[in-house]
Amino acid sequence: MANNAGKASFVLKLMLIVMTLGFAGYGVAGMMHESPEPPVPVPVPESNPLTPAKVQLGMRLFMDSNLSDPDAGSTKVACVTCHSPMLGFSDAKIRSIGVYNRRGKRNSPTVFNSAYQHSQFWDGRAQYLTDPVTGDVLPGTSLEAQALGPIQDPLEMNNTPENVVGYVLYRYRKALLRAFPGIAPYIGSSYEVPVVFQAIGKAIASYERTILAFDSPYDSYAAGNTGALSDAQLRGLALFRGKGNCTACHPEPLFTDVTSGNPDSGFHNIGVFRQGYETGTNDATGEPLFPNTGLPGYEGYDLGRYYVTKSTSDIGKFKTPTLRQLLCTAPYMHNGKYSRIRDAVEFVVRGTVAGIPDPYEDDYAGEVSPLITAIRSRDWYEDEINDLTAFLEALSGGHMCSGTGMRGMSR
Ligand code: HEC
Ligand code: HEC
Repeated sequence: MANNAGKASFVLKLMLIVMTLGFAGYGVAGMMHESPEPPVPVPVPESNPLTPAKVQLGMRLFMDSNLSDPDAGSTKVACVTCHSPMLGFSDAKIRSIGVYNRRGKRNSPTVFNSAYQHSQFWDGRAQYLTDPVTGDVLPGTSLEAQALGPIQDPLEMNNTPENVVGYVLYRYRKALLRAFPGIAPYIGSSYEVPVVFQAIGKAIASYERTILAFDSPYDSYAAGNTGALSDAQLRGLALFRGKGNCTACHPEPLFTDVTSGNPDSGFHNIGVFRQGYETGTNDATGEPLFPNTGLPGYEGYDLGRYYVTKSTSDIGKFKTPTLRQLLCTAPYMHNGKYSRIRDAVEFVVRGTVAGIPDPYEDDYAGEVSPLITAIRSRDWYEDEINDLTAFLEALSGGHMCSGTGMRGMSR
């Protein structure tokens, strides 16, 4: 992955100015989130340098429901439908709702800081684009590749590259050519659809590289303001780094390990998939939501990372989500099982949550990551779970959110 860090941060600053001036009048300034200088430079792929023109176009595309099925009428959706800035760039639903009110398979993750992830989606299936003209793999383009997924997913936007390219060439031609002057020769050629479709992904990814969250009480504390965390939060931080060993998978300051060099790293089974047994059907095909894989004992379950690698050791593994902005992104886990931060924490440390039935806890305890087994082998006091929760709350901040997981509701 190319590191254009210095340049990226310059462009980011420039962009904040452009956005504030240029978009305030349209009432969408809230779509841009002003974050302090990130402690870790935003990775930018060599094949898609970050420019204000791309970010602006990407933001408009992110909000445009006409990228979805043209026949879906009032049920058309945009990226922002399921990744709303008012809800921490998520949607406050257990599982997302796409065109024709089709229910998706998983919980919508936040887009905050997804620019740092080497793979996108809960199972990491989006990793890179392939250049449509040369066939070359374009490293570091997981966001670009990801953006082209929901547009075509029958349970999300249910559209085709041809349709979307036609619409974007009609509606955004000038902005598109300003952002990507190099694509002009391909328009009208046999490469038109794949080249323009990728440009759409590149514009959206560029916008997403500006959706950063580093403006929380924790960041203030890390910058030397020792009073930024309460006593409970400080005790929680000690537990997070110590007894809880949470940093093994949620390392500071990004709080996820799906960012390190190894593209297979960052996926773990912490036992959630056994709780998300889904007997429902796929609203687009009428088939089971998670068709049988032929593996006995796993019928109906979401097998996560296994679908990507086909390795049985990856069954039930999911991407480690960031723990930033949790106050805005309830419910939690890939299946949206927990609506309170405290319940998610209790599940991580105990494997079971008081008052929430889990018929599988004992039978399947042996399947989870040894790191999790070690955490669960310790005794956990209620106060310790409260302190961990208080610390996680200190990882949110710096932007508006009117969602379900707000302070006060998370306990
Ligand atoms: C119908 C709701 C819906 C729409 C529309 C939608 N998304 Fe998502 N998004 C989701 C869900 C659900 C997931 C997780 C899916 C999975 O892991 O299989 C997701 C995953 C993602 C991720 C990966 C984040 C991570 O941490 O892995 C990104 C980035 C993202 N979406 C951006 C977009 C963009 C860009 C668009 C528009 C082109 C879009 N989404 C449209 C619901 C939606
Ligand atoms: C072995 C790696 C690992 C360790 C150790 C770990 N986690 Fe996680 N955590 C994950 C994974 C993977 C998920 C997502 C699981 C899923 O949805 O199937 C997750 C999810 C979460 C969530 C839900 C976040 C969301 O947005 O959905 C919270 C909260 C959380 N972990 C807190 C903690 C705390 C607190 C600790 C330490 C006590 C901890 N985790 C230790 C891997 C880990």
